[in-house]
Amino acid sequence: DAADKGGWSSFMQKEVSEQPTAVADTLRGRLHDGRVVVGELEELGDDVLRSIRRITVIACGTAAYAGMVAKYAIEKWARVPVEVELSHEFRYREPVIGPDTLVISVSQSGETMDTLMAVKYAREAGARTISVCNTQGATIPRESDAAIYTHAGPEVAVASTKAFVAQIAALYLFGLHLARVLGTASAEELETAAYELEHVPAKLATVLEQGERIAQLAHWMADTRSVLFLGRHVGYPIALEGALKLKELAYIHAEGFAAGELKHGPIALIEPGQPVFVVVPSPRNSGSLHPKVVSNIQEIRARGARVIAIAEAGDAAVLPFADEVLRIPLAGPLFEPLLAVVPLQIFAMELSAAKGLDVDQPRNLAKSVTVE
Ligand code: G6P
Repeated sequence: DAADKGGWSSFMQKEVSEQPTAVADTLRGRLHDGRVVVGELEELGDDVLRSIRRITVIACGTAAYAGMVAKYAIEKWARVPVEVELSHEFRYREPVIGPDTLVISVSQSGETMDTLMAVKYAREAGARTISVCNTQGATIPRESDAAIYTHAGPEVAVASTKAFVAQIAALYLFGLHLARVLGTASAEELETAAYELEHVPAKLATVLEQGERIAQLAHWMADTRSVLFLGRHVGYPIALEGALKLKELAYIHAEGFAAGELKHGPIALIEPGQPVFVVVPSPRNSGSLHPKVVSNIQEIRARGARVIAIAEAGDAAVLPFADEVLRIPLAGPLFEPLLAVVPLQIFAMELSAAKGLDVDQPRNLAKSVTVE
């Protein structure tokens, strides 16, 4: 068993550390001199891709948050509307789908029953289906018109980590391939995005170097009963994922919010000492979003929140207002979520360890939910 963990104390430790490789392996063979070519989509055919008028991403749990991140990127590059829906909601509301709808399912295991049933439903309704999956030959990719495999390697810990970053990478490859076929993004934009993707693995490795510091923070916070997470734009699904990880692994009440929603309710939760993680957009390239999120931080700090900011290296604007700052390397705005999620994974994992819990096998959860 210890050998399987490769010297790490848990599968999750190992899988978190494997994230640079998980992304690199998912990109391998799909990037050619700044050009994204996903072989599986070539088989599907450009005509099929050109006929798509809208995209629905269906998934459960962490995979659904990967879909939410990708919505921002796919819409930006390919200019096709994308909605993201939980598989179990999708199938029971008579969704409007047809031959011009592409349904992309995202599933690490490829066996999640709700997602499988939703894919079958979509096919019967005449939609095209693509599976983003980490398990070769699983049921969901077999039931789909095409599969884009993530190559994260087997994920053993129940809560998903490396599969998540690999899913975002695969969905981004899809978005860039589609944008090239549709001609919706300039050659320069596509090249820059491909370059950014290529550099994600090395940047992930840099984020992992802060593991010790985050572990210390988690140990200090071992008695915490509630944690809030705020994010905006692609940082919003990361806030949701950070909260999910903490619930799953440390059994702590946690909620993620869109930062812009703060004044519509969540700010009422802020009382002295309330820990709040804030995913801060880049000051260089997020337009007005950076000052808006910094002002959110000021608002919650004024009410006594304990702020842990996840901010780009060199962003000094957060320093006067944050109790802790965890740094991520410089990246394009759409690529920050791949980096910002890592400190949140490590925090949840270390808090679980600090509480003496089983980080690989949290209570009441299953790795793959094969019942409805
Ligand atoms: C379970 C796991 C989660 C995972 C979800 C979807 O709830 O505990 O970590 O995100 O299923 O699984 P899938 O295999 O479809 O990605």
